[in-house]
Amino acid sequence: MNKGNSPVNTNAYTGLALSHVLEQLKECASASFETARPIPPSVNHAQSFLAHERDAIFTKEWICIGREDEIPSVGDYLTHDIADVSVLIVRNENKLLSAFVNACAHRFACLMHKPQGSTKRFTCRYHSWTYDLDGRLLNAPYMQMKKDFQSSEHSLRPLQLAIWEGFVYVTLSEKTITTPSQRLKSFTENVVGRYNMGCYVTVLRETMTWNANWKNLVENFTESYHVPMAHSETFAKHEKPLEEYVCGEDNDHYGYHRAAQKSDTGLGAAHPKNQRLEGEWRRMMIDFCAFPNHLVTLMPDYLWYISVQPKGTDQMLAT
Ligand code: FES
Repeated sequence: MNKGNSPVNTNAYTGLALSHVLEQLKECASASFETARPIPPSVNHAQSFLAHERDAIFTKEWICIGREDEIPSVGDYLTHDIADVSVLIVRNENKLLSAFVNACAHRFACLMHKPQGSTKRFTCRYHSWTYDLDGRLLNAPYMQMKKDFQSSEHSLRPLQLAIWEGFVYVTLSEKTITTPSQRLKSFTENVVGRYNMGCYVTVLRETMTWNANWKNLVENFTESYHVPMAHSETFAKHEKPLEEYVCGEDNDHYGYHRAAQKSDTGLGAAHPKNQRLEGEWRRMMIDFCAFPNHLVTLMPDYLWYISVQPKGTDQMLAT
């Protein structure tokens, strides 16, 4: 502990202060392609950097928590954790989606325990406070004994929600921030809009834990360098040289790379009846990251995505 009010914020891995690591990272990020060099190791190994990511990114940014088509009917809901906060999204009586902190307004017990379900009301298991699909408190047993009790003061805490191309995003931020549609406008117009991702249908949802820093996967989705080598026995069997992979433009809100597959037919290619896609886009694979953590592989006949969050410096949760 230093002599001031706060602990010295240093990195056990390198002994460097967080502020110094951030400065080094900024220098790396601003370097040209010709002078690029690896990022400081602390970025992936330091607990102080991980805590900084939680505060600066995961509690403030839009986090993808699922697809609109997973909850098509009134009362259908999904739950998801963002930076250790459980969130709940539900389709309300007006068929619109709403998001809340998944905690009862009474003593903050977790309200809905399953990752997905359907309900008419949300009833807390602890003292049975019950809420409607708009988060309004409908019933609180015995609270009539409290003279000043006002149900309207005990709604679920609402969160901002946004939809882009069928993906549902929620943010813990209390400030109004620009929506994913605004941030991804040029990417939508120039690259992925032609696929109409909102029409792709969810067939499988799974959760995985991987032993790596979460940013390793973000990098993996935004660079082609590893593909001809690391995937030579899988989807890079076409032996396409690195020069034929296209890396997208620099942008604060997204990164991507793309490569056309060999054949106009078969897996990965557009269906013959698909009239939206033209030319090489009929066999194009695009890997992209909608910052900070939403990773997508998009093909004419296939959409795979994950939302990654750190579980530590060396482990991530992919949902
Ligand atoms: S904590 Fe939910 S009703 Fe008491």
